[in-house]
Amino acid sequence: MRHLLDRQVLFFGGKGGVGKTTCASATALEASRRGKRVLLVSTDPAHSTSDIFERPFGREEQELLPGLFGLEIDAGHEARRWVEQVKQQVAELFSPAILKEAAKQIELAAAMPGAEEVALFERMSELIVDRDEEYDLVVFDTAPTGHTLRLLQMPELMTSWVRALSKTRKAMLAQDAGPDPVLASLERRRDRLQIVRARLMRAKAVAFVLVLIPERLPIEETARAIEMLAASDVHVGGLVVNRVLPAGTDGAFYAARRKQQQVYLDEIEERFAAFPRLLIPQAEADIHGIAQLEAVSRQLLGAA
Ligand SMILES: Nc1ncnc2c1ncn2[C@@H]1O[C@H](COP(=O)(O)OP(=O)(O)OP(=O)(O)O)[C@@H](O)[C@H]1O
Ligand SMILES: [Mg+2]
Repeated sequence: MRHLLDRQVLFFGGKGGVGKTTCASATALEASRRGKRVLLVSTDPAHSTSDIFERPFGREEQELLPGLFGLEIDAGHEARRWVEQVKQQVAELFSPAILKEAAKQIELAAAMPGAEEVALFERMSELIVDRDEEYDLVVFDTAPTGHTLRLLQMPELMTSWVRALSKTRKAMLAQDAGPDPVLASLERRRDRLQIVRARLMRAKAVAFVLVLIPERLPIEETARAIEMLAASDVHVGGLVVNRVLPAGTDGAFYAARRKQQQVYLDEIEERFAAFPRLLIPQAEADIHGIAQLEAVSRQLLGAA
């Protein structure tokens, strides 16, 4: 999977517990060791990146190791930050009387299902679009697949939503009214979403790595993810098949389990032949700390 190091943005996705955080962390660590300036972003509410590196990640970027920066996005916090921002913008535009009503509306919008996802998406977009000069590589350790894929579809959904809103707004405005700040801000947002979408579609710079284990449900989830990514024009950088039982260990139970895995490994070979694939063996214990992470880095990306 050495080719992944040529990208500027990598997403690691997959079903719960398959090894997304482990692979994202190992890749980010190795890229930084090879002299890149790397940002590892955790968007998963469980935030196991702090665990694996055995040091705390914050809500703001901070250098964990030379060249390796970490950040854990807290969707709830981002949603609240977004509310404050919008309130402030509104306060600059309207009278106190209208303001009180507007504040109520904004609070309501913030409590809506999906508000945290929107805030999370805005924060991720900011990292992809505005901060790309600062890092050679941004690695996203994501929450289980469905959630992340919805995020990637958001520019499309939001663009049509913003378009509809600006149309309504235009119709509402009197002919002779001056420039409308609300309309202007909607249009800015639409333009920005288009930039994010264009960025995500750049196959040379952005890739989605799908992590799975040789079992039925992760295979089906991977197949679904590949379809959805293709529909959103996001490039699949490869598949990491994790927790493959190594050969040469005794025991009837173990042998049977390996045989079962082999059935799924054959299926993976056949169904996902179009994508680069890499197998990672099951380790004896959980992967924890820099030394063990380095071992995974070598398996993922080869020796430097
Ligand atoms: N190849 C491996 N051998 C042994 N243990 C592994 C291996 N890969 C991952 N693990 C362990 O499995 C557990 C889950 O891995 P990880 O946290 O990377 O998965 P995840 O996909 O990020 O999970 P979640 O969906 O909960 O975020 C961890 O305890 C990790 O140390
Ligand atoms: Mg994780």
